[in-house]
Amino acid sequence: PNVAWEHHHRATTSFVHERLQRRRGQRDQTIDKQQQQLEGDTKRKRSPLVSATPEWQRLELHKLEIENQHLRDLLKDEERSQAMFAEHDGVYLDYSRQRATLKTLQLLQDLAKRQRLEERIQDMVSGKTINFTEKRAVLHTALRADPDEQIFVDGENVVEDVHQVLNQIKTFTEGVRSGNIRGYTGKRLRNIISVGIGGSYLGPEFLHEVLKTEPDGINSALGYNLRFLANVDPVDVERTCADLDPEETLIIVVSKTFTTAETMLNARTMRQWLWDFMGNDKEVVRKHVVACASVSATDKVKEFGIDTNNYFFRFWDWVGGRYSVCSAVGAVPISLMYGFDLFEQFLKGAQSIDRHFMTAPMDKNIPIIMGLLGVWNHSFLGYKTRTTLPYAEALLRLPSHIQQLDMESNGKVMTRHGIEVDYPVGEIDFGEPGTNGQHSFFQLLHMGQTAPCDFIGFCQSQHDLCLDDESLSSHDELMANFFAQPDALANGKTADEVRAEGIEEDLVPHRTFKGNRPSMSLLLPKLTAYATGQLLAIYEHRTAVQGFIWDINSFDQWGVELGKKLANDVKAHLVDARKSENHVIEASNPASSRILNYYV
Ligand code: F6P
Repeated sequence: PNVAWEHHHRATTSFVHERLQRRRGQRDQTIDKQQQQLEGDTKRKRSPLVSATPEWQRLELHKLEIENQHLRDLLKDEERSQAMFAEHDGVYLDYSRQRATLKTLQLLQDLAKRQRLEERIQDMVSGKTINFTEKRAVLHTALRADPDEQIFVDGENVVEDVHQVLNQIKTFTEGVRSGNIRGYTGKRLRNIISVGIGGSYLGPEFLHEVLKTEPDGINSALGYNLRFLANVDPVDVERTCADLDPEETLIIVVSKTFTTAETMLNARTMRQWLWDFMGNDKEVVRKHVVACASVSATDKVKEFGIDTNNYFFRFWDWVGGRYSVCSAVGAVPISLMYGFDLFEQFLKGAQSIDRHFMTAPMDKNIPIIMGLLGVWNHSFLGYKTRTTLPYAEALLRLPSHIQQLDMESNGKVMTRHGIEVDYPVGEIDFGEPGTNGQHSFFQLLHMGQTAPCDFIGFCQSQHDLCLDDESLSSHDELMANFFAQPDALANGKTADEVRAEGIEEDLVPHRTFKGNRPSMSLLLPKLTAYATGQLLAIYEHRTAVQGFIWDINSFDQWGVELGKKLANDVKAHLVDARKSENHVIEASNPASSRILNYYV
């Protein structure tokens, strides 16, 4: 009987095997045919758009495979989860809860090769003019380079310049903090107001919020006060300086162009505030106002009355506003408040990620992996939004910084070939610290629209608490949520699981979670100045990677110009209306005329 069984078994096995082979062959042939057709189409189209490349089209095809797979099942694959993480200098990225397989990653890397991603990163960090609409290099990485490095723009080693300004900032801020540099009436300068908007505000504020509760930050900030004045709303002025003594206040005007309407009005308002208290003397401005601006704005800084020899901290055209926190834009306010050493640690953290970004192979490179998955989620899986969810209260302003960084960078429609994209580009980013967000918009994340989530957490808290009668610390409580949410989103809860809990049948559909919602988790040791630099650089590079794959210019921002121009037209109407009570505004259309006349 054994021989008969074996014979039968062998016959069945070979029959099954043959059928499987045949089916695989047929399936491969179909895919090959589809691919040949796509490649044929591509050639016929002769489009320079990335969406016409075979690499892009293979991903389109692959999407059909992924659409049939659930994260609940993918997560059971041991080999897959072994592969889907990356680590560098304490930063641990787990991307196993992305709707992707190892094949997806391979196809994304093929696309990156087709787009010459590594070459384009090299072009960026070596100072090539990659911001082609403004004819500028993009060198925020040079802001954290070591003094012995060399990066040339127009024949000049920019690293030398960077360190010259950093030394100037170190000397100045130490002078203020030691009391050697004082205000007009001889008082110590203990209040710092940083006036700036957009990229001249969001990055420094996000760093300030981190350092506010960081133990070294707390120690070094004792006796100082740092505030940001961004909004042109007069209420922001009131909130910023109502309780401050102008004699003890140093104003930093932060503006790359030194022309931004909101910043310049706020700067003039602050100058008037100083004059109102100390008299209209030009020395008041020279002793209480400093500027962080681009070299090309030097004349405007001088005209404002600022001492350009000692109180002007330059940066350069090759530093984009939203990429400028590592320049004087962040260095001056943060060093005044917390000391230069802490700011240097922030730069070191960013530098560590820069080096990793420039050298690590694609499959181990944290910002590249995150960027490629960003493209996959948005352009292929069709997710229009994305969330940043730091499980750290001190990162409360990170989502706003990322919002500007990414949406101003990748909110574009034209490729570098001057052709409009025919694929989705640029996500809507939003976010909130956990667990607060869980009690706000997470309902939608779990059951409504899908938004890929970035969870950011830390092994250790800046300040942990443990009550006597609790077995877990407050940080463990926070982190339990950090670990649980990605699984809840990925696995969901089936109707049967709901039923098994004894839920009445009517409610089962309401309490079922479909799951299959992607996220990734970044885990770092502790939220320090260094770790903040790492996070900053990870997100800056993620944005650039997506822009390179999409073939757009992530470094200009023409989209904000039209609104600025129209605001000037409105201002002209308002001037006329304020001059004469009977003036009737005639704007460019009846609706505008009506609402403007209602306003005045
Ligand atoms: O919002 C447009 C923008 O140009 C941003 O890119 C920039 O960060 C911000 O305005 C402020 O510009 P500036 O530093 O020149 O005042």
